[in-house]
Amino acid sequence: MKSKDKFEIISEMAKRRGFFWPSYEIYGGVGGFITFGPLGSILKRRIEDKFRNFYIRPLGILEIESSVIMPGKVFEASGHVDHFKEPIVECLKCKRKFRADHLLQEFAGMSDTETEKLTLQELMNEIKKRNIHCPECGGDFGKTEQFMTMFTTTIGPYSEATGYGRPEAAQGIFVEFKRIYESARGRFPFGVVQIGHALRNEISPRQGPIRLREFTIIDIEFFLDPEDLRCPLLKEVENDTLKLIIAENKLKGIKEPIEVTVKQALNKAYIKAEWQAFFMALAKRFLVELGVPEDKQRFIEKLEWERAHYSVQGFDQEVYLERWGWVEVSGHNYRTDYDLSRHMQFSGVDMKVFKEAEKGGRRFIPHVVEPSFGSDRLVYIALEYAYKTKKNRTLLSLSRELAPIQVGVFPLVSKDGLPEKAKEVYQMLIREGFTVEWDESGSIGRRYARADEVGTPLGVTIDYQTLENGTVTIRDRDTWRQVRSKIEELPELLHAYFRRKIDFEDLGQLIKR
Ligand code: GLY
Repeated sequence: MKSKDKFEIISEMAKRRGFFWPSYEIYGGVGGFITFGPLGSILKRRIEDKFRNFYIRPLGILEIESSVIMPGKVFEASGHVDHFKEPIVECLKCKRKFRADHLLQEFAGMSDTETEKLTLQELMNEIKKRNIHCPECGGDFGKTEQFMTMFTTTIGPYSEATGYGRPEAAQGIFVEFKRIYESARGRFPFGVVQIGHALRNEISPRQGPIRLREFTIIDIEFFLDPEDLRCPLLKEVENDTLKLIIAENKLKGIKEPIEVTVKQALNKAYIKAEWQAFFMALAKRFLVELGVPEDKQRFIEKLEWERAHYSVQGFDQEVYLERWGWVEVSGHNYRTDYDLSRHMQFSGVDMKVFKEAEKGGRRFIPHVVEPSFGSDRLVYIALEYAYKTKKNRTLLSLSRELAPIQVGVFPLVSKDGLPEKAKEVYQMLIREGFTVEWDESGSIGRRYARADEVGTPLGVTIDYQTLENGTVTIRDRDTWRQVRSKIEELPELLHAYFRRKIDFEDLGQLIKR
């Protein structure tokens, strides 16, 4: 029997323990939608908060929240109505539709670099030439055509008032740029972020949380002066190394990345904009924080015909996943003044900023560098990299900031006043703001195993000694070591532990076994 791969193992665990599962299961399911359960929604929130602590707060980036449905005009201006399309082909027999480029990749071994270049006619010719038939029924394929992957609706009862579900949160930032700039009170350059749902009507999403029709996007738009693209923070990351597959090498068929420092990448003009290089270095550090080692990360440059219509240089940050190989986790695009200029042109509203009043003043349309992540993928990636086995048991070694449940509270046995004492500890920790799980069913070993499986870093056990001297044991998920500490000291110790000020050994007296 074929052994299960990580994706199957994680998906089963995720369903069973309430991280995520396919939505609408009672109606047979619809591809491309997932529901985050009680643990998954906390994990996702913690990843987004970590992102806030990592990118947003230190850089003073402003966060906004705009609507998911946007009027047609926005996406006519942004170019999505013309460009946000994928080639599809229909089976003449069973009428199922497929991505034409994906068929060539899956059944003829073509790379996405090769397929992206092909016109609709060429895609059709290749499918015929390579004798590719419907993978479902073996039927012949018809003509390839473009399918717009934005969800379309009407706003209110007016059929002419077309609305679209936003395929990126970025446009919510661009259309509100003037107001946001007012609240930035002249600060420049400055960044704006939006973390929210986005919709893409993917043709055949088959990769669980990796490719979704509704997902959470994290778009940062960093607005710059086109005459001063320098990044004053570059020093902080200039010696970080990046693995890059640059466009030039990709064209030569070189698959191995080159490893350079951020400084070298800029000196050699592999990366054009300093801020883009800065954000790529942060993206790498962020993924390391989520548990992805450096050697499982790389950046791949988009060729001209692979880039989004608004981008003059684009890199995808990729992470290695067991089932799919290299998978995009963030995109880094230099969008120049494309979006603001287009909105200016379509709305007639001036989007220029005014700078250097002391030198007589200069008005310009800001340039934009954009790092963009998908939270749902980050959740899956964090889970895959945290998944470990130890002595035939599974544990999720999520970092202490990410673990959905911080502390498990366990009365050793359900009698002799231990549950009552344990409830007091549980209530105290809840009041202190920790995410705590109460578990008194089954043996203590089984309870520890259940907590390990969902990545709970600490287990507090109330035993007979607790009744005698007011101490409890604290158990570490990864090493299974235990320390003893006083109940009244728990809040302070645990706050320090979860803020990474102390480590497990500092939580109490080590219990020798
Ligand atoms: N805003 C990033 C993207 O659309 O991929």
